[in-house]
Amino acid sequence: MLNVALPKGRLGEKVYSMFEKAGFECPSIKENNRKLIFENEEKAVRYFWVKPSDVAIYVERGAADIGVAGKDILLEYEPEVYELLDLNIGKCKMAVAAKADFRDDTQKTLRVATKFTNITKNYYAARGRDIDIIHLNGSIEIAPILDLSDVIVDIVETGTTLKENNLEVIESIVPISARMIANKSSFKFKGSQIENIVNELAKQLENKK
Ligand code: PRP
Repeated sequence: MLNVALPKGRLGEKVYSMFEKAGFECPSIKENNRKLIFENEEKAVRYFWVKPSDVAIYVERGAADIGVAGKDILLEYEPEVYELLDLNIGKCKMAVAAKADFRDDTQKTLRVATKFTNITKNYYAARGRDIDIIHLNGSIEIAPILDLSDVIVDIVETGTTLKENNLEVIESIVPISARMIANKSSFKFKGSQIENIVNELAKQLENKK
């Protein structure tokens, strides 16, 4: 049985339909919207819905053999997993944003509000910029408006959240998309099954081009 952790939500549904198309369907997944685990014995596959930011934990610890996680989560937590394929969905970017009238005074420590402290630390360390990280769990966009921070580091997809809060991107850090990841020992012991799925998904991506 191959255990697959899917990110709960719209992205996860897209991912499941890719797996379905690849021949690893599990019809019961469409019937019940509260259950979290579904399996198809005949296809030897078991899916479970987890919080998107938790997928990498399940995979790293081997509770799931494979899963799909955003590159943002992989960069932030640096889990010990194999990254096998860019699924080219869930695309967005990690960016620094600020109020339109923000001017960086490099003599001063920059106050940065973010959920992604590791990405933020690495980004500014590489630039030799002194920062004070303010870790928030959500609604990051509010921080510069209330003068809690000078800038934010966050995910930008359509840009609507920034726009509606009078913020703008001042630097792009890295493009983000959904990645298929695998547990390291599963990749050894269930390698052929995993490779089979990766190849089928890669074919779908080729056909979309
Ligand atoms: C993300 C991010 C922004 C928003 C950007 O939040 O933190 O707030 O999406 O999207 P946009 O550019 O299309 O407006 P998400 O919806 O994932 O919620 P969260 O902050 O609670 O994780």
